[in-house]
Amino acid sequence: MAKGEIDLSVDLAPRHSHHLRLDNPVMIASGTFGYDGYGRGIPEEMDLGQLGAVIPKTVTRWPREGNPEPRWYPSSYREGREAGECVYLNSIGLANPGIEGALVNLAPVWAQWNATVILSLSAASVGEFGEMAAMTRGVPGFQALELNLSCPNIESGALFSHSAELTGAAVEAVRRNSDLPLLVKLAPNIPDISPIAQSAAQAGADALTISNTLPAMTIDVTSRTPVLGAITGGLSGPGLQPVSLALVYRAVQVVDLPIIGVGGIFSAEDALQYLMAGATAVQIGSANLADLWAPVNILCQLEGFLRGEGVGNLKEIIGAAQVKAPV
Ligand SMILES: Cc1cc2nc3c(=O)[nH]c(=O)nc-3n(C[C@H](O)[C@H](O)[C@H](O)COP(=O)(O)O)c2cc1C
Repeated sequence: MAKGEIDLSVDLAPRHSHHLRLDNPVMIASGTFGYDGYGRGIPEEMDLGQLGAVIPKTVTRWPREGNPEPRWYPSSYREGREAGECVYLNSIGLANPGIEGALVNLAPVWAQWNATVILSLSAASVGEFGEMAAMTRGVPGFQALELNLSCPNIESGALFSHSAELTGAAVEAVRRNSDLPLLVKLAPNIPDISPIAQSAAQAGADALTISNTLPAMTIDVTSRTPVLGAITGGLSGPGLQPVSLALVYRAVQVVDLPIIGVGGIFSAEDALQYLMAGATAVQIGSANLADLWAPVNILCQLEGFLRGEGVGNLKEIIGAAQVKAPV
């Protein structure tokens, strides 16, 4: 590292024999990478290797068409607000090519990128999680897995990440079938994140990603109809930021794993709040819908802030806002 450079490196899997070392903590959140979640429209001149990691859209066991249109709603179109002040709703419905399509057609492309790629998986049962993890064995193109647990388990209809038991079972099933570093992404709409985070940690997660969208809707009063084709969807963006931040803050107190903060990050200041709450890294989601360069810009701003504060190593600010007494 050259003299005067800031050390932004992080390890998202310190307990894993492979580790998951990233040059910096800024990642692209699943589902928001380019126009289709798989990088369509990303400018050629954007060097993805500049970012900590990229997480393409979640894949499921079988291909999915997704929900009826309209599937997303940024209020900026109607109200002329700044990108960082909008309500972001989506109901994409996990449209994806299925894991076989992803491993055969997408992973070889990712393998050519100068970037760390993390494959996001969602399944309908614990057994299917294990089966999908086994399918990824030996396939090049990604360096880690992220489990999207905001999906229903078909046996009970409940989301995996609404139950500590189901969360643990899904993580264990994947852990048994894959040697890759494992990020576990939790949902925000739970009464207490502690038992769920602890269960994921005990079952073998290397890091936790907190969080995903919140169930939500918006109604257009002129047409008297919900704005989303699926009626309800998920809230992301600025409205989610303080909710997700509080969950990160809490999770940091109860598990000894790296936490990745995600929700409403549109600026370095938003990212810094998560880092100061104790997150080791951050993911940028909705900000990509407004500006594909958002993660690169946020990374530059973050570096500028640290330089201005005389901070030489990112680790100096991680957890800086944690107060000693538990909340
Ligand atoms: C259009 C859209 C699609 C998304 N698709 C996925 C997905 O496939 N898998 C997943 O884990 N999260 C998905 N998310 C959730 C994001 O990864 C992120 O957790 C959430 O949007 C909060 O971050 P943000 O406020 O920065 O957008 C999606 C979000 C949006 C806006």
